[in-house]
Amino acid sequence: MSNAIIQVSGLEVHTSEGVLLDSLDFTVDQGEIVVVLGASGCGKTTLLRHIIGLSPPSAGEVLIGGQSIVHGDNDVRETIMRSFGVLYQSGALFGSMTLLENVCLPFEEHTDLPSRLIDQLARTRLASVGLAGFEDYLPANISGGMKKRAGLARALALEPPILFLDEPSAGLDPISSAALDKLILRLRDAYGTTMMVVTHELDSIFTIADRALILQDKHIAAYGPLNEVMGRSDNEWIQEFFSRSGTSLRAPIPAAASAQSTESTTSDLHEGIHND
Ligand SMILES: Nc1ncnc2c1ncn2[C@@H]1O[C@H](COP(=O)(O)OP(=O)(O)O)[C@@H](O)[C@H]1O
Ligand SMILES: [Mg+2]
Repeated sequence: MSNAIIQVSGLEVHTSEGVLLDSLDFTVDQGEIVVVLGASGCGKTTLLRHIIGLSPPSAGEVLIGGQSIVHGDNDVRETIMRSFGVLYQSGALFGSMTLLENVCLPFEEHTDLPSRLIDQLARTRLASVGLAGFEDYLPANISGGMKKRAGLARALALEPPILFLDEPSAGLDPISSAALDKLILRLRDAYGTTMMVVTHELDSIFTIADRALILQDKHIAAYGPLNEVMGRSDNEWIQEFFSRSGTSLRAPIPAAASAQSTESTTSDLHEGIHND
């Protein structure tokens, strides 16, 4: 039985340059982590923008939890948009605001909670990504990995059932990147969060992916369990992508193995993260 929480059908995106995405059909199941892969400029960020309702598609439908983010009225769209958090490719923290103020924002925008409670919740979110003690720092004064984690804390603020992460580990050193992957898996295990993650990082892909979606030449060239997609010997791009320096012999770690983790509380989520 289908357990789809995201349903994309017939999605088309035309730009001034022509067709960028053509007739995309796919679904994402509740609690799974789908990685979106493809060459630079193939439309991965554009795909996410259309799924989260930031841009209207030229044609097609996107249902989140069965409701249309494309055709829903403002109330429906607002409700859907509250159900997910987004970590943008740029990180997009407000530079003039402290980390605490950045994480307070979603509460201020979307809830009527009293400011003392908002402050408390935002501190908890920062602690959950290993940033306790950094509440009063400005983004300019922390490392790239910490910025990504602060962005993640903001995306997580309202405990959304769905997360969209656009290249979360780009530009991070391998240790920070591995810590972020661990955090992503812990979130999924603790809350059953569904995630779509755009990434180029092989280590990340092997660690977190349940399924991989390959965007190529306007279409979905492959979509399925990571092992299956990697085995697509008929697709040169896939073969090259997965056989970069020394990784071709690596067995992917099934993301499901992480589900054996016993941690299930927010305070445990930062275990293993060091502040780089
Ligand atoms: N609204 C738009 N109008 C014109 N070109 C666009 C628009 N949106 C995206 N593009 C172009 O589409 C291509 C895909 O962009 P993007 O989705 O950012 O790719 P990726 O994230 O895969 O690197 C780029 O060449 C970008 O310049
Ligand atoms: Mg992009």
